[in-house]
Amino acid sequence: MKPILEVKDLSVTFQTFEGKVQALDQVSFDLFPGETLGIVGESGCGKSVTSLSIMRLIPDPPGKVEQGKILLDGKELLSYSPAQMRKVRGNRISMIFQEPMTSLSPVFTVKEQIAEVFRLHQNLSRKEAVRKSIEMLERVNIPDPAKAAGYYPHQMSGGMRQRVMIAMALACKPDILIADEPTTALDVTIQAQVIDQMKALQQEMGMSVLFITHDLGVIAHTAKRVIVMYVGRIFEQASAADLFAEPLHPYTRGLMESIPKTGAKLTGKQGDLQEIKGVVPSLLDLPQGCKFCERCPEKMDICAQKEPELIPVSPERSCRCWLYKKE
Ligand SMILES: Nc1ncnc2c1ncn2[C@@H]1O[C@H](COP(=O)(O)OP(=O)(O)OP(=O)(O)O)[C@@H](O)[C@H]1O
Ligand SMILES: [Mg+2]
Repeated sequence: MKPILEVKDLSVTFQTFEGKVQALDQVSFDLFPGETLGIVGESGCGKSVTSLSIMRLIPDPPGKVEQGKILLDGKELLSYSPAQMRKVRGNRISMIFQEPMTSLSPVFTVKEQIAEVFRLHQNLSRKEAVRKSIEMLERVNIPDPAKAAGYYPHQMSGGMRQRVMIAMALACKPDILIADEPTTALDVTIQAQVIDQMKALQQEMGMSVLFITHDLGVIAHTAKRVIVMYVGRIFEQASAADLFAEPLHPYTRGLMESIPKTGAKLTGKQGDLQEIKGVVPSLLDLPQGCKFCERCPEKMDICAQKEPELIPVSPERSCRCWLYKKE
């Protein structure tokens, strides 16, 4: 099967007050039709920059795509004009933003905002667009959708707002949905409901999903394949089944150990929950060798000296760690 989206050697920098930071360093991955690919990693590892790059929404300046390719059905998005890109956004690729208020306006009602998507992309009359908006709200399980359609975003709960964002992102039946931390702000029960809803809609529409989160627990329930990122680099790439059966990278293992076990929250006992020691290094001051070596419990001499490549471990799996280098 051919990928619908290919990201190749993508590097993005930001000019900041203190100097230039490399937010993404040669990130490559494919997204296949109909699949859910998870991207996971601690705060600041480049998850949002990856998704914003695909949408061509990196603010330039201070951001700059230094090198790489982003191919949609084999066509280079990075060379598209702003007008071509506007057509791609919404028609082909939709995004649920990490900050709900990035895509929801406080001054328009929910139906006005969803109807706008229908009017822009499908040229519908106002009346028809409103009817379809209410239908969309029903699809994402908003109770009393006709009434809710008349609400302003601030009149809704966080969970409802998130559903509105999903309704808006799916209104034009995109081929690819990028969901950047779509449920982070929600409590666990609502989070599970919203995720189930997204999964059902994905199956119905057959779209591909790039699901971004810092929470491996959420990834386990959503993604077929997973990319683990750290300081702008891919550290491990595997099927979700392989990754959860046997995480290879010490960083991935650290992330796994910090997932609360089922039931732990309910009893209030966090048991053997462990955080990864140390902090993510500043992008302005990265260690010379492996970027994780200062926090790594399995550090070897070479780790501090030379950065490992992403090493293929099996046909479906790769890992950026010297432990897996076979001479
Ligand atoms: N507008 C910007 N200006 C300067 N630096 C930026 C900007 N946006 C991102 N960065 C840099 O890129 C890095 C990656 O940011 P990104 O938003 O992709 O992280 P993330 O993985 O999405 O984190 P989080 O889980 O907190 O959302 C940041 O650490 C920051 O240094
Ligand atoms: Mg982010």
